[in-house]
Amino acid sequence: MAFEFLSANLAQQKQRARYRVRQNVAEQSGRYVTIDDKRYLNFSSNDYLGLNHHAEINQALTEGAERFGACASGSSLITGYSYAHQALENDICDWLNQPKCLLFASGFSANNALMHALGHESCQLYLDKLSHASLIDGALTSDAKVKRFLHNDTAQLQRFLTQQQALATEYDTNINSVIVSEGVFSMDGDQADVANLAKIAQQHQALLYLDDAHSIGVIGDKGQGSSSIAKVDIVMGTFGKSIATSGAFVACDELLADYLVNFSRHYIYSTAISPALAWATKKSIAIIQHEHWRREKIAELSQLLASKLSDKIQLITNSSSIHAIVIGDEIATLEVCKKLREKGIWLTAIRPPTVPNKSSRLRVTVTASHEDKDINYLADCINEVIT
Ligand SMILES: Cc1ncc(COP(=O)(O)O)c(C=O)c1O
Repeated sequence: MAFEFLSANLAQQKQRARYRVRQNVAEQSGRYVTIDDKRYLNFSSNDYLGLNHHAEINQALTEGAERFGACASGSSLITGYSYAHQALENDICDWLNQPKCLLFASGFSANNALMHALGHESCQLYLDKLSHASLIDGALTSDAKVKRFLHNDTAQLQRFLTQQQALATEYDTNINSVIVSEGVFSMDGDQADVANLAKIAQQHQALLYLDDAHSIGVIGDKGQGSSSIAKVDIVMGTFGKSIATSGAFVACDELLADYLVNFSRHYIYSTAISPALAWATKKSIAIIQHEHWRREKIAELSQLLASKLSDKIQLITNSSSIHAIVIGDEIATLEVCKKLREKGIWLTAIRPPTVPNKSSRLRVTVTASHEDKDINYLADCINEVIT
């Protein structure tokens, strides 16, 4: 039979308890999500700051649509680059103290684009082992040499860079190195040692590239993410999580931005993001900078969760919104999620290949929309169903 691999691979997914289906979300707002006519307390949302449905952002979206249109009607290099895009780029540059910023359709696309741009044959990319799929795919399909260092193991990264420098000296060659990591890791919620990575990059004349998808908005007194910790050469941030719109940005120096405009296929051959959304994103970023209480609330609720969970629960504690409870086995994790659903809690099981084998988990996201009573209830339910 033609294309037999399609059904064979799906059957294998089912057999390994890795089969995935989409849920019909009727409504998602604040602390709740309604799925198949049932309302749940939502602990799987990436709307960390609780900004989705914010009246001022919605108003900016409407205003943006009226002034600039819902659609860019072209790629950025043709006629798609409007005042709304420029104004958003400028705000991001001011926010992160970077000279230039470019907008992309998604974080996935931006990561791919950058790994390709920096993936010249003269380059060596060093990726943290837990880097997002878009970074790994981009790096592996680029022309660069790729090495992955153990998760957050900066000593191993140092050794790799030192070895490479010794080889370059021996053979009188010049290698351009790029260190790639996430600011906050998507599935564990722990942070990279940004200050140390920046120091190592400087020592080895390497560039530091950070994917701040889960740090932007949440880390820093103005939500600047990793840029609040150290000077980062290139920052990628998504709009679809704490910023609560859609799309992504890359902030970097003028030379790299110019290079991307001229050579990045993801940038050149793609319609610019919706100008209405760019306008709404600009408003969201203004709110994020001023409303520090949202970050404080995440920190307080996260502490509350850690204090209420039983000692038996393996919780990876950290200062982000993401708190992983590793269960291990896929079937056991699905079973826990099912039991939590029966108690009105929505938590999606995260399974391989999204996370390494035998590390299936609950990925709990604590947001600024939650209340103390939600966290207390969640902790009670988890303590009861994980025995
Ligand atoms: C670390 C990380 N980088 C990049 C992305 C992709 O961003 P987007 O959803 O905007 O494509 C994600 C999304 O899940 C992510 O977790």
